[in-house]
Amino acid sequence: MTAEQLLTADLPTVGESRSEQSGMVEIIRSSFAMVEPRADELGRHFYATLFRIAPETRDLFPVNMEVQRSRLLRALVHVVQMVDQPDDLVPFLEQLGRDHRKFGVLAQHYDAVGAALLGAIGLHAGAAWTHEVQKAWTDAYGIVSGAMVTAALAERGPASWLGRVLEHKRVGWDLAMITVQASEPIPYRAGQYLSVETPQRPRLWRYLSPANAPRADGVLEFHVRAVDGGWVSRAIVAHSRVGDTWRIGPPMGRMHVEPGSGRDLLMVTGGTGMAPIKALLEDLAGRPETPHTQVFVGGRSWDDLYDFPSLRKLSYSNTWLDVIPVVEKDEGGTGAERGTLADVVTRYGAWADHDVLVCGSPAMIRSTVSRMLVAGTPLDHIRYDPFTMD
Ligand SMILES: Cc1cc2nc3c(=O)[nH]c(=O)nc-3n(C[C@H](O)[C@H](O)[C@H](O)COP(=O)(O)OP(=O)(O)OC[C@H]3O[C@@H](n4cnc5c(N)ncnc54)[C@H](O)[C@@H]3O)c2cc1C
Ligand code: HEM
Repeated sequence: MTAEQLLTADLPTVGESRSEQSGMVEIIRSSFAMVEPRADELGRHFYATLFRIAPETRDLFPVNMEVQRSRLLRALVHVVQMVDQPDDLVPFLEQLGRDHRKFGVLAQHYDAVGAALLGAIGLHAGAAWTHEVQKAWTDAYGIVSGAMVTAALAERGPASWLGRVLEHKRVGWDLAMITVQASEPIPYRAGQYLSVETPQRPRLWRYLSPANAPRADGVLEFHVRAVDGGWVSRAIVAHSRVGDTWRIGPPMGRMHVEPGSGRDLLMVTGGTGMAPIKALLEDLAGRPETPHTQVFVGGRSWDDLYDFPSLRKLSYSNTWLDVIPVVEKDEGGTGAERGTLADVVTRYGAWADHDVLVCGSPAMIRSTVSRMLVAGTPLDHIRYDPFTMD
């Protein structure tokens, strides 16, 4: 089923047009803006209602809801506001629905979540919760949950896999490379990401991108950077041990390279965004025909380019690959280009005849993509995983 068919099928009124969907999204955005200042209260009400009407869902969430309180709600509101962009949204929702099976989410829970969401927003919107506003939220939630449930019910593969930590290598005070042996090969494509749950932080799942292309022996390598105040990343970097058992969720994301687009490739990466780029390069190296690939790998200082030597080594043995380091700080003698990734990449022009992949922090993705669009790169040539909630 295509995105278009799925949306049309799920729309309550057959024949509603994209512009009617845009109207629905406008109503949702403006009504949410009204209640947003009281997001904490709204969150408490949402979860209290959910756990009252469907008490069995409490066990799906982390024990300490103070840490997590706004995650699902924030995600829900973010996603519901995007129903007028089905081409991007629907494939993501299908992956998300399959992914939600790892929590133990069942089809009937979607009705309870919808009721709790609409109840919380309705209560806080007061008189502004008109029939029209309620209809907009109901329709949009129906589209979103319909796409997730349909995909989840159709999936026959496992809801999650087990993995055993084989190696934990600290490569800096805040960074570790972790090798995990999965119980069986996980069917991801190079460039996609997986979610993991570790014994140190039960029920706190986080997305990580394998740094290797899929292997027949099921081994995965992850690069994890501890973020300030981060619950899971700090625990993985500081406390993961060889022999730990991880749970791993189904693959997500659209950062793969389709064979045969005919265009050369540009990859722009910073931080642990280097991991999926390495996986993609490894995958490309195994193909009979490989497009010329230009990689820019950037950071604030040379130390941030923690895996640059292995990328450079790959470029020495593959003539189709060219890797350029980029650093923001003036550090003479490194041979790196100077500036932000957005500065340096656009200095080279519009890259209009390239397929472009951007991997890294949400801030880096935002600035690079927006500068490239201004420089003239066509939007439909650029790929990144846009649905980050942090
Ligand atoms: C598609 C995708 C792929 C990812 N791949 C990787 C990967 O390969 N390796 C990896 O280390 N991480 C990766 N991440 C980020 C990872 O999933 C977590 O968000 C991150 O590790 C923080 O989790 P935490 O529990 O430690 O922080 P939380 O406890 O969730 O958050 C603590 C604080 O840190 C902030 N924060 C959260 N994430 C980040 C971030 N990325 N940078 C800066 N501040 C942040 C939060 O806003 C909050 O203030 C990926 C994220 C996405 C969406
Ligand atoms: C339209 C419906 C839904 C959408 C769009 C949605 C979206 C999301 C997203 C994006 C996350 C990950 C947040 C992150 O890690 O950054 C998440 C987490 C989660 N969702 Fe959903 N979800 C939906 C329905 C449900 C339902 C029906 C349940 C079952 C009660 C559920 C239970 C959870 C749980 C347990 C988590 C992990 C804990 C947390 O992060 O809060 N979700 N959801």
